[in-house]
Amino acid sequence: MDLYEAIEKRKSIRKFKPDFVPDTIIHKILSVGTQAPNAFNREPWEFILVKDRKLRDEITGMRIKIPPQKVALETAPVLLVVCYNNELAEDALASAYACVENILLAATAEGLGGVPLTFHGKKIKALLKIPEGYDVATVIPLGYPDESPNKPTRIPLDQKLHINGFSLK
Ligand SMILES: Cc1cc2nc3c(=O)[nH]c(=O)nc-3n(C[C@H](O)[C@H](O)[C@H](O)COP(=O)(O)O)c2cc1C
Repeated sequence: MDLYEAIEKRKSIRKFKPDFVPDTIIHKILSVGTQAPNAFNREPWEFILVKDRKLRDEITGMRIKIPPQKVALETAPVLLVVCYNNELAEDALASAYACVENILLAATAEGLGGVPLTFHGKKIKALLKIPEGYDVATVIPLGYPDESPNKPTRIPLDQKLHINGFSLK
């Protein structure tokens, strides 16, 4: 799949088949994640793969009141938690998300799906023993899609593009 095709095809997937995702594929998509641009090349990202059913259930429990997220978390065979060293504050989070986008595009090219879920707060940090100085950028339920939602449309570019300065439309 070429890059433009992967970009077009990528969409958030929130329901997964139970099929196991081979470690070789996970390692491949994480490796391309680390090729992302990142502030001062400090590579602030750290990855936690959550495969253990009990831990996955605990994380799902944190989203029990948000049905689409609950389904995503409980059906995905693996949860990818992307953490970042928060020393560089928003630059580190931006770097982590550049990495996340590479991962999501590579996952699409591998026939996988996922969705970056926002997880703030202490509960997940305590559960996964994330040390002081690190925060969670996102939790990505990852797996083979068991749904084919329409990709939300985007506002046409001409309404977002400004030449030589911001102009209100
Ligand atoms: C920073 C960020 C945070 C997000 N947080 C959530 C979330 O908490 N729950 C969720 O269901 N989707 C979340 N998403 C996914 C967006 O809802 C999704 O990307 C957007 O609706 C566009 O849909 P698409 O990814 O299918 O193109 C997040 C995406 C980003 C980039």
